[in-house]
Amino acid sequence: MIKAKIAVLVSGGGTNLQALIDAERAGKIKSGEIVLVVSNSKTAYALERAKNGGIESLCLTKKDCGGQEAFEQELIEALDTRGIDLVILAGFMSILSEAFTVHYPKRIINIHPALIPSFCGKGYYGLKVHEAALQYGVKVTGATVHYVNEIPDGGEIILQKAVNIRPGDTPEVLQRRVMEQAEWKLLPRAAELVCRRLVKEKGKTI
Ligand code: GRF
Repeated sequence: MIKAKIAVLVSGGGTNLQALIDAERAGKIKSGEIVLVVSNSKTAYALERAKNGGIESLCLTKKDCGGQEAFEQELIEALDTRGIDLVILAGFMSILSEAFTVHYPKRIINIHPALIPSFCGKGYYGLKVHEAALQYGVKVTGATVHYVNEIPDGGEIILQKAVNIRPGDTPEVLQRRVMEQAEWKLLPRAAELVCRRLVKEKGKTI
C-alpha cells in the first residue's frame, strides 16, 4: 500500500510528535508514515523522541543557516530530497514565510491550542495562548488543526475540539488539559485524514 511520507517540524518537548508516533504504531495513522523529524532547536526533547522512535532527525537553526531565507531553503531541500508529501508543524515555534508555504499547498498542517479564530495569529504561541484565554474569561477553549498558508493561523480549518475551562485554572494547567483532551487526539486524526487524501491523489498520478 502506498503511504504518504510525513515530516514533523518541532521546537520543544514534542508531546504532539509522540502522539503521532504512538498513533502510527497503533495503526491509527495508516495512510502515512513519519520519515523525518526536523527541529529548529538543538535542545528540543522532541529530538530524543525521534531517536527513540527510530526516525531520522535533523536540526536546522536560522542562526546556523544564516537567516530565515537560507533556513527555509535548506528545509525545502531536506524535505524534497526525501520526497515528503505532508509537513506537520507540531509545536514548531517559528513562522514560515510565503516562499516556503507556497511550495507545499494544502500539504502543511499545524496544531494551534485554541479555537481559531480566537486567540490566534502573530504573537499567540505556547503559554501566551492560554494566558490570553484566561485573561479574556472565556469558559470554553480547545485546539484547532488547520492547513498552513502565508497568514499565521489563517489557513483552512481541518478539525477542532472544545475543552472546558475550570475555575482556578492557571495557563499551565489549562495547557495540559488542552493537550490531553484535544491536541494529542486531534493531530493524529487530522494527519490520517490528510494522508488519505494525498495517497488518493498520488494514486491518480502514477
Ligand atoms: C502545543 O501546545 C502546541 O499546540 C503549541 O505548542 C505546544 C507544543 O507542545 N503550538 P509539544 O512540543 O508538542 O509538547
